[in-house]
Amino acid sequence: MKSILNRRSIRKYTSRAVEESKIEQLLKAAMAAPSAGNEQPWEFIVLRDRTTLNAIPKIHPYSLMLYEASVAILVCGDLSREKYKGYWVQDCAAATENMLIAVNDKGLGAVWLGIYPVEERITGLRRLLSIPENRIPFSLVALGYPAEKKEPADRFDPERIHYDCW
Ligand SMILES: Cc1cc2nc3c(=O)[nH]c(=O)nc-3n(C[C@H](O)[C@H](O)[C@H](O)COP(=O)(O)O)c2cc1C
Repeated sequence: MKSILNRRSIRKYTSRAVEESKIEQLLKAAMAAPSAGNEQPWEFIVLRDRTTLNAIPKIHPYSLMLYEASVAILVCGDLSREKYKGYWVQDCAAATENMLIAVNDKGLGAVWLGIYPVEERITGLRRLLSIPENRIPFSLVALGYPAEKKEPADRFDPERIHYDCW
């Protein structure tokens, strides 16, 4: 509950590099996500190359924090593993959120950058990273050691909850 309720989008990072072992833990959290028919239709690209990270804001206008981020993880949907059509989107979202919760637990900061379904971002990243046609860039998680602190956001709203019928 602590990691879920304290999670906020962190867009400012220190220059400290994120350890490989932590990246692996984040990927472990991502791959622990539930998926339709247990299809696990995800693949990940760990982006550390500065030139590559700096190229992304030219493709994605709301990703300027990548100039500071020491690493970013791209979540891709793998259509070749699809058992139940269309569910890959929910599966990849679950993997992305799992990763964000783990980020908080590891003392790191991160923000989810939406890629899918914006065509220019999908095409731009596909070109930049040589992603094959049946893999769809879904979300990008920018991360690093936090250089900003945010209070937890209390979004609990009992009016959004219905019991037994609308
Ligand atoms: C699907 C999705 C796409 C998002 N895309 C971006 C983005 O492109 N750039 C960005 O800075 N934040 C992005 N965010 C982060 C949201 O702006 C953020 O989660 C929201 O404002 C709530 O704030 P919090 O994460 O600090 O609780 C995205 C979040 C989601 C779930």
